[in-house]
Amino acid sequence: MGNVIAIDGPAGAGKSTIARLLADSLGYTYIDTGAMYRAIALWATRTGTSVSDAHRLEQLAVSAEIELLPQRRVRLNGEDVTDAIRTPEISAMASQVAAIGAVRAALVAKQREIAKHADVVMEGRDIGSVVFPDARVKIFLDADPAERVRRRAGEMPGEQAEILTAQIAERDARDRSRAESPLMQALDATYLDSTGMTAEQVRDAILAIVRARISNGKANGGTTTAG
Ligand code: DC
Repeated sequence: MGNVIAIDGPAGAGKSTIARLLADSLGYTYIDTGAMYRAIALWATRTGTSVSDAHRLEQLAVSAEIELLPQRRVRLNGEDVTDAIRTPEISAMASQVAAIGAVRAALVAKQREIAKHADVVMEGRDIGSVVFPDARVKIFLDADPAERVRRRAGEMPGEQAEILTAQIAERDARDRSRAESPLMQALDATYLDSTGMTAEQVRDAILAIVRARISNGKANGGTTTAG
């Protein structure tokens, strides 16, 4: 089992940017678990599978071959779906399929398999709370809502920004309130509000935590091990 650095938080908090910078600094593999939920959402949409058909969605999640490649490229069953999974429709659908326990179980199994063979920086919603409760370092990355919209979209006309704000709020509310592995801060995670910080400042703050934890031989997000 490799070292795991878990980065959780709401949409647009900067998780992807930060996780990639961290992975580069540490020589770890970057794993975007949201892309896995998005890939299942895309496959479901293309096959006309309803979000209420949990059994069929589970089958898709179990049989999907998802490859997470450098430069954030994603392949589903051999096809490059990097751009197809980033549309607003797929964002909304991903949040809905992610509420289904059997889909989560299938994808969590894939996530644990990846970390058996590599040191990873893994980002998502439940990495520190459910997927890797023993992760060496757990960060809950947050930022205020207006900044999260800007990070997702860059500068955009007011009306579009309003629509995106509503979409993100809806997705976060669903991700936080679902019964199965809701978005939440693990008790032993470090809360980091990145509002007003540059990506490099956030990276360096987390690197300091990583270095302290890993070199001091501490595990479980701050619990000192005996001896
Ligand atoms: O991080 P993202 O926006 O690409 O994630 C897409 C959706 O997938 C998001 O609405 C919540 C869900 N998700 C999840 O439930 N658990 C994860 N570990 C990652 C993403």
